[in-house]
Amino acid sequence: MKKQRILVAYGSKHGATGGIADEIGRTLEQDGFETEVRPASEVQDVTRFDAVVLGSSLYAGRWQRDALRCASRNADALVHRPVWLFSSGPVDSSAEQHEIPPVPAAAKTMEHLHARGHATFGGSLTTETPGWIAHTLVKHGKGGDFRNPERIRTWAHRIGSELRSQEPE
Ligand SMILES: Cc1cc2nc3c(=O)[nH]c(=O)nc-3n(C[C@H](O)[C@H](O)[C@H](O)COP(=O)(O)O)c2cc1C
Repeated sequence: MKKQRILVAYGSKHGATGGIADEIGRTLEQDGFETEVRPASEVQDVTRFDAVVLGSSLYAGRWQRDALRCASRNADALVHRPVWLFSSGPVDSSAEQHEIPPVPAAAKTMEHLHARGHATFGGSLTTETPGWIAHTLVKHGKGGDFRNPERIRTWAHRIGSELRSQEPE
């Protein structure tokens, strides 16, 4: 049978969310899907994909504009496909300790697209993250890489299983 094609799109300012998207793409590829990982700003057409995972980093409690625009630009096609959303943000272990709900715009997007699920993953803020706010936070011990590959992979495997369970016999 033809492999299902999955797009993993992401909105990112400094690359940390791209790393999460890559991990999701790699995991689904290992699970036997054909995957493509793309910045949300580059996604003009999702019709050649069977399913879409869309994520964004959080800044001041908001999703990236690129990710929101990607969702609205492709809404007509996305509502007819299985969609999952993820957010990347907390630069501490809170995302490991409890489920962090989507921020309002992401929750609205979920509702709009009838998304099947959402996860918030820990983010990353290091000395390599540009910007004075990031530097100040890191200097005061607020930084670190809280992306947990194991948790990301577990979530991606779950998406894979759900898609697989709906394949025709
Ligand atoms: C100025 C600033 C504001 C941030 N605001 C939030 C926030 O509101 N919620 C959150 O969970 N993380 C917040 N973060 C953490 C980022 O979301 C985290 O570093 C993320 O991994 C960045 O991903 P990116 O490199 O893909 O943009 C903030 C970081 C900075 C530098």
